[in-house]
Amino acid sequence: MWFETATFYEIPVHAFFDANGDGIGDIAGITAKLDYLQWLGVDCVWLLPFYPSPMVDGGYDISDLTGVRAEFGTLEDVGVLLDEIHRRGMRAMADVIVNHTSDQHPWFQEARRPGSDKRDWYVWSEDPGRYPDARVIFIDTQESNWAWDEVAGAYYWHRFYAEQPDLNFDNPEVREAVKDVVRFWLDLGFDALRLDAIPYLYERDGTICENLPETHAYLKEIRAMIDAEYEDRMMVAEANQPPADVVAYFGDGDECHMAYHFPIMPPLFMALKREDVGDILKALEATPPIPSGAQWGVFLRNHDELTLEMVTEADRAFMYAEYTPDPAMRKNVGIRRRLMPLLDNDRSRFELLYGVLLSLPGSPFLYYGDEIGMGDEYLLNDRDGVRTPMQWEAGERAGFSEADPASFYLPLVTDPAYISDLVNVADQHAQADSLLHWVRSLLHARRLLPVLGTGQFESLDTGDRAVLGYRRWNEDVEVTVLANFSTVTRMVPLAAHQVDLRSGAIYRADVELAAHQFVWLEPSR
Ligand code: GLC
Ligand code: CA
Repeated sequence: MWFETATFYEIPVHAFFDANGDGIGDIAGITAKLDYLQWLGVDCVWLLPFYPSPMVDGGYDISDLTGVRAEFGTLEDVGVLLDEIHRRGMRAMADVIVNHTSDQHPWFQEARRPGSDKRDWYVWSEDPGRYPDARVIFIDTQESNWAWDEVAGAYYWHRFYAEQPDLNFDNPEVREAVKDVVRFWLDLGFDALRLDAIPYLYERDGTICENLPETHAYLKEIRAMIDAEYEDRMMVAEANQPPADVVAYFGDGDECHMAYHFPIMPPLFMALKREDVGDILKALEATPPIPSGAQWGVFLRNHDELTLEMVTEADRAFMYAEYTPDPAMRKNVGIRRRLMPLLDNDRSRFELLYGVLLSLPGSPFLYYGDEIGMGDEYLLNDRDGVRTPMQWEAGERAGFSEADPASFYLPLVTDPAYISDLVNVADQHAQADSLLHWVRSLLHARRLLPVLGTGQFESLDTGDRAVLGYRRWNEDVEVTVLANFSTVTRMVPLAAHQVDLRSGAIYRADVELAAHQFVWLEPSR
């Protein structure tokens, strides 16, 4: 299926381009920039929640699950965007937030009223001590998963902000209503849906209320519905869980088509600092096989904090020590920084991680702005520091909007190393040796190698703890990846002659890898 070899590109709608000059990016702004995404080599455009929202949680708190936020445009604008995406041979993905709504959603407003026949649509309790083993996720701001509602005279359950009450999936009406939301966006023409925060649908006494069998059964129902009613569509599980629990979201090929590979992400960053790829290999070994036709989604960064929820305490301490010189860079259980600042603005380390990301088993998910090495503003509220306006051009508006910068939905990056005068699309587009052109050429090289999406995987013993090695292959081709995670040159012996797939260089007895260099090789004929 198309998603097995696709490259995804993630866009917070307000952050990309402001087409109507009010300082807020919008749907029409994305339509206006599709030629850029096509030029870059993007296959599927992922739009973050664009629904009506009080914006307590960046739009993941939704007050109308089938509407469009007025500042972003109309349903018609979304239709035009989808047509234009499809006309270019690309696809589109939307978020479906299944687990919760905003407390401003009419369902919740109705549910809290005494005697309401929607009361049971959310999860209520007289006892805020129920489900004591369920962890709190937003530890910086929430003390409990229960919040008191004055109108209802009861506590309601919420796994994220208190403004995001969890829906009650034990209620059959809720299960049907959510299916209708899925149908609504597929009917409009989305090719893919990301199912947000999917481990938390059900609650059961005596459990941690994550990954419950009931949750999997319901996801299988949605899958069966999609298979019966649609063609060529897919859903991605957002389940930040240990490897064995993540793979459960593929079912036996009858649940989600894709799932994010959370466990492989932190080890990539650890390996850079340790100059030792052992953690990467361990994470890959701990990853069980997945059903045929299923696919991982791999990523380095996204719109959230770089999560450290699922790593050991020692690894978490290591990551904080190495990557958060200022404690304000930490958020919840993670790090609210963009890729380039995490890598100290060092292009060779960026290229190394991209070379690995784009050749690991899975389909890569890129985060807007990373292709030009955008910076962050980590002191902004919550995760807003990694959601600042896209830098299209030099200048005080960064080509993002015609509005007065003071009225932008968020300020532009002010860190002197990353201001729009230094980091922007236009300048890099004009420079053949820019990071932007380099990313583009790597995406195009990957396009010619579908084996990187669908091929088998086997790790190689390079004899050097600092050099990651693996093979991707199918009946026709074989690609060997070697990646030097150390800060000095390394020699890697080869069993047979190899050709560098990108440069054409021929290697006979061994490969010399400069600091942070990677190669994609094929056997020479
Ligand atoms: C997901 C989203 C995150 C959001 C949370 C609650 O983890 O990626 O941005 O805060 O769900 O909806
Ligand atoms: Ca706008």
